[in-house]
Amino acid sequence: MEKSVKISIHQLTKNYRKFRALDSISLHIPGGMFGLLGPNGAGKTTLLRILTTLLAPTSGQVRIGEFDVVQNPGAVRQRLGYLPQDFGFYRSLTAFEMLDYIGAMKNVPASLRKEQVMKTLTEVNLLEEARRKVGTFSGGMRQRLGIAQALLGNPELIVVDEPTAGLDPEERIRFRNLLSRLAQDRTVLLSTHIVADIEASCTGLAVLYQGKLVFNGTPEALIDQAKGAVWQVDVPLDAWPKLEVKYPVLSSRMLNRHMQARLLAIHSPFNGAQPIEPGLEDGYMAVIKSTLVQKEVHYG
Ligand SMILES: Nc1ncnc2c1ncn2[C@@H]1O[C@H](COP(=O)(O)OP(=O)(O)OP(=O)(O)O)[C@@H](O)[C@H]1O
Ligand SMILES: [Mg+2]
Repeated sequence: MEKSVKISIHQLTKNYRKFRALDSISLHIPGGMFGLLGPNGAGKTTLLRILTTLLAPTSGQVRIGEFDVVQNPGAVRQRLGYLPQDFGFYRSLTAFEMLDYIGAMKNVPASLRKEQVMKTLTEVNLLEEARRKVGTFSGGMRQRLGIAQALLGNPELIVVDEPTAGLDPEERIRFRNLLSRLAQDRTVLLSTHIVADIEASCTGLAVLYQGKLVFNGTPEALIDQAKGAVWQVDVPLDAWPKLEVKYPVLSSRMLNRHMQARLLAIHSPFNGAQPIEPGLEDGYMAVIKSTLVQKEVHYG
C-alpha cells in the first residue's frame, strides 16, 4: 500500500545566534527515497531536526503532508520515525525490550505492541537476536535496530541521519537495501556525506553546502553537472604540485615517478589529458567546487 508523504520546505532559515546554519532553503520532496548530501557542517542535521520538530526554525515554513512542523508538531511526530546521527542505545536491554519500551513511548497500544515489535524486528532481519542485549550488537546490527525503532507505529516518513558511518562494506550494502525496500511504500529521507549511499537507491537528491541548497534534482542530473569537466592526467611528480593547486582533484594515485589523477576542469587542463565520463561523485564535487572551477587558469 502506498503510504508516502510529501515534504515542502519554503525559504527555511536557521540561525544559531549569529551563525546562519541554513540559508533560505526551498525544497520539495515528493516521496520515495530522497538523499540529502553535504560535507561536514553543511546543515544536514539542522535541517532534519527542524523537519522532525526537534528544533524551531528562525524563519520559513516546513510542511510534512498537510501539517506545518511549527503549528502542528504533534501530528507531524505521529507520522514520522527518526534515526538521529547520535542515537543512544539502552545497552543493558534486549532488542525486544528496547523496542517494546520505545513503542510504549510512541503510544503504540499495549495489545498491539508485541506483534509490532516482532514485525519490525523481522523487517530489519533481527528477529533471531530479539533476546540478545543491545550492548553486544555490532555497529551494523545497532543501525538496523535504530531503523526498527523508527519504524514502530508504521510512520509514513522515515528520517535517517548519516546511518552508514562506521559500517563495513557488507553491512553498508545490507543497510542500503533495507532502506530501498522501506522506500517502496513510504518516504525515506536519508542524509549522508557518502555519495555511494545515494547512488543505487535515491530517486531524487539535494546537496547542501555551507547552509545553502546548491543542487536539487535526479542523480542523473547531478552527474551532468560534471559532464565534459572530468579529466585523467598522467604527469611527472615535479609537475604535480602546480596542477594540484590549479584544479580540484577528484582522486589521485602515484605510479613510479608519475602521478595519475582525475581532475575537474571546464577545459582540457593541458595537451594529453584524457576526457572521462563523470559519475555521481564527480557531479557532487563539481557542485561543491564550482567556485574553484570558475577560477580555473589554463595550464601550460
Ligand atoms: N547548537 C548549535 N549551536 C551553534 N552552532 C551549531 C549548533 N548545531 C550546529 N551548529 C553549526 O551549524 C552548522 C551545521 O551543522 P549541522 O550539524 O547541521 O551539519 P551537518 O551537515 O549535519 O554536519 P555533519 O556531516 O558533520 O553531521 C555547523 O557549522 C555547526 O557547527
Ligand atoms: Mg550531521
